[in-house]
Amino acid sequence: MSLDDRTIEAIHTGVSAGGSVVFVSGAGISAESGVRTYRGEDGMWTTDGAAAMSKATLAYFSRYPERSWQWHLDRRAEVLSAEPNAAHEALVRLEAVLGDRFALITQNVDRLHIRAGNSTRRTVEIHGHYGGMRCTAGCVGVVPIPNEFDAWRDEPNWPKLRDLLVCLRCGFATRPHVLWFDEFYDEANYRMKTAGSLAARASLCVTVGTSGGVPVAARLAGIAAKAGAVLIDVNPTDGDLRQLALRSPGGAAIAAPASDAIPVIVDLIESQVRGVDRI
Ligand code: OAD
Repeated sequence: MSLDDRTIEAIHTGVSAGGSVVFVSGAGISAESGVRTYRGEDGMWTTDGAAAMSKATLAYFSRYPERSWQWHLDRRAEVLSAEPNAAHEALVRLEAVLGDRFALITQNVDRLHIRAGNSTRRTVEIHGHYGGMRCTAGCVGVVPIPNEFDAWRDEPNWPKLRDLLVCLRCGFATRPHVLWFDEFYDEANYRMKTAGSLAARASLCVTVGTSGGVPVAARLAGIAAKAGAVLIDVNPTDGDLRQLALRSPGGAAIAAPASDAIPVIVDLIESQVRGVDRI
């Protein structure tokens, strides 16, 4: 695909301003990997409704810890069978080109950015991820869900497996490392303060594959814009983030799937940065 003049100008201005290039991703970037979105036509909240949403709560976990874990393990199995797509891969290339000028803030819990090769240092998973669990008694740190759960889809031997969901330090129960609807963002678990600081250092901020159904993406883009960043939104469907980008000074929007748009954006940034390097 080719980019229109407004988008090319937005990228050029944002990169030459010399700040960071910050991507804020949502479920749409993984849609072409076969991972269901939340609010799209076949999205999890759209098709499974309020019943599914009520499971993504601390209240549900507190009442039915085993059912809650099983629901998360079903989701984990779904995302483990997916592979990163061209959009994820392009962002790995961009991190290699930009180094510390690159940051990725993702709402996705599917870990496809990390599996593609983006570093955990420059990737902030503000909603946690399905690969991790942490102690409910407050022991610090996220540990991987044990490999024994990789066979969950074929042979979920729950009585044997549930004993593995305990904190190795204190023996208390663990919980999935994801942010639920009735919880708050924090720095310790979800690096929210870090995400805000990264957004504030951006001179180019690209939102991709997010509906704005959760206000955090718009909030981060707003922080970036306030600090002078150029905003670009990538989404085949119109929404709040596209309108925010189009209203912002010098902003642009690309109405295309992420796997078409992101590699082209990355090519352009890469050639601009390498061109600047040569001078
Ligand atoms: P949504 O499901 O709300 O929005 C997905 C967006 O992706 C929609 O705007 C689609 O138009 C767009 N989209 C679909 N296919 C695409 C493609 N191929 N390329 C680019 N965009 C595409 O997902 P999020 O905005 O990420 O919370 O949802 C935010 C949060 O709400 C999630 O992180 C999740 C959910 O509750 C937690 O998991 C804690």
